Amino acid sequence: MAPKHPLEQGGLPTGGPAKKAKLGNDEDVEMPDAEDEVPRTPGAGLFDPSVDPEALDPIPWLDEYEEFSTDPTTSTDPPFPTDYADVPDESDPAMTLEDIDYTDPNLPFDIPFVEHSKDESADQNSPIPGSSPPTVSGAARVISKIKSSVSWMSKSGQINPFDLKIYIPFYKESEPDKDMLLKKFKRVDNLDKETHGNAEQGWIGVNEALGEGGQGCARLFVKLDKEGKIVDRIAVKETYESAATWLSTGFWHEYREGKDPREAIIHRLLSLETEQKWERHIIDYRGHSINHKNKSHRTYMEYVDGGDLHKLFRAQNKKYTHINKHDGDGTPRRDTDGAEGVPEAFVWYFLRQMATAMHRMNNIPLRAYREYHVVHQDIKPANIFLGRCDPNEFPLYPIMKASRSCVYLADFGSARLTSELDNRNPRGYRGDARTPGYIAPEMSSAMQRRNSWTRLGSATNVWQIATTAVQMMRGNLPDVIEYNQKREPAHPTLGDLRSGNEYSNELVNLLAEMLHPDPDSRANCQDIMNAYVENREVWLEMADPNVARNFETSNLWLHWREGDGKWGIGTVFENPERSEDFRAREAKRLKRVADD
Ligand SMILES: Nc1ncnc2c1ncn2[C@@H]1O[C@H](COP(=O)(O)OP(=O)(O)O)[C@@H](O)[C@H]1O
Ligand SMILES: [Mg+2]
Repeated sequence: MAPKHPLEQGGLPTGGPAKKAKLGNDEDVEMPDAEDEVPRTPGAGLFDPSVDPEALDPIPWLDEYEEFSTDPTTSTDPPFPTDYADVPDESDPAMTLEDIDYTDPNLPFDIPFVEHSKDESADQNSPIPGSSPPTVSGAARVISKIKSSVSWMSKSGQINPFDLKIYIPFYKESEPDKDMLLKKFKRVDNLDKETHGNAEQGWIGVNEALGEGGQGCARLFVKLDKEGKIVDRIAVKETYESAATWLSTGFWHEYREGKDPREAIIHRLLSLETEQKWERHIIDYRGHSINHKNKSHRTYMEYVDGGDLHKLFRAQNKKYTHINKHDGDGTPRRDTDGAEGVPEAFVWYFLRQMATAMHRMNNIPLRAYREYHVVHQDIKPANIFLGRCDPNEFPLYPIMKASRSCVYLADFGSARLTSELDNRNPRGYRGDARTPGYIAPEMSSAMQRRNSWTRLGSATNVWQIATTAVQMMRGNLPDVIEYNQKREPAHPTLGDLRSGNEYSNELVNLLAEMLHPDPDSRANCQDIMNAYVENREVWLEMADPNVARNFETSNLWLHWREGDGKWGIGTVFENPERSEDFRAREAKRLKRVADD
């Protein structure tokens, strides 16, 4: 196969107008002081590590992933993938990021929302045919009643003891037992019927969790044909909310209170197909459902098996520690000895893919969303997933999206759909989950007060992507910036960014532009694409399959390896652990029956 190169395919950038970050100011309003630079859970007040252990270490089971740390000089594994059978021959991305033409009458107006009702037995949003999601009509009304009473009470300033007697028990009772729900979800082995047994048909749960935190858990489910072969697979993320979050408007998509969580709709909007395939670096959304009783919601999505960047960094550099790990005295652990950054070509490849994903966030292909764009707010290594390699370009590096090996942006739990008219931006976003070290200047309350409440926008995404890139170059944590209302934040110096590693001036300069403290002065998605193309001599070798495959192990190697093909489409499903687990439970049950 003749190598397809992005430059041959997509052409050179025209430098045409790129959509700028949508930013604006609104009038200064006094707000109580709040420290934004602590992680929080959405809408649920201050972060509490006992409730959200994930914020301390998002991937407690990281050690299981030491297998990524294959030493390329001793490994017997092939250094690059050999089987490209399932990689579709897609055209390469264009390097010019033009905006969607919103005047095109063929552009759909809005997504069809599914109206749930008592008699409705199937959720059309769910990928599982015939499944019975919770019905919501009654519960939505209850929610709105409680909300209006609570808001009336707080407005009138009259909260009398009698009301409290009614509401406090309600709040308490309605607070779900997350541990119990999590345990239950981890035991679901047939998604259609939510059974806990040794399912052999339908959507079967694969034993281990993909990722787990205090707020929820992601699991892989596979669909089998009659012969027991895997024909489809989905990742299901189940998240548990507090009653306060469940009753807050901000948790739901606008005008869809009690029906569709914001996270799910944003994910759905970003997965919509565009002619330019910009969505290929966003994890594909396949459905969602909610459960009022448990205050839980699920997103069904594409499964990718290459891990996430956080795990990659660990593999790349044994000394890498997560930002939330602390020494005894509370200072973040920053052991940089022996830190090893990733190859420069990979950084460029990452930036190109993320520029596409960010551009997609500025271009929702529906006329109703013309004025809207998405601010992710929690871009960081653990939320960037890796897929298969694209054999046609960067054959040794993981890419992002759809059965190809790429980098995908995911986890829209903190994402906001915003516009110039959004009067909650930025003040209404302060309770959203964020990660220290990834707080852009305009996200901090100190800078918001200093700079007349500059809005969060596309430039905020750019800043977080650049911080992730700097982290991959250092092989270590980003700096936690102490923002001070009395002075402008410092623009990181080129020396800081390079931090002793051998990266080109061009890359470091681009990152400096992406990290400009003033969002209006930051590089935008097209600037990133332009720099990528202009600096092709740095990454060209690694992008050319004929050259890259001849590389002996060298410092161009990335300590990454493709998923092991387990649970691949077309393979016969085996879930021995579950069988054992099942047998143990069966034995217990039978014993109980016998004892009775
Ligand atoms: N679609 C998926 N494919 C593969 N792994 C996934 C998928 N979704 C989640 N994971 C794994 O689970 C972890 C947590 O998922 P995420 O969506 O980031 O949820 P959270 O809000 O709990 O951080 C991720 O870091 C990733 O390792
Ligand atoms: Mg996450």
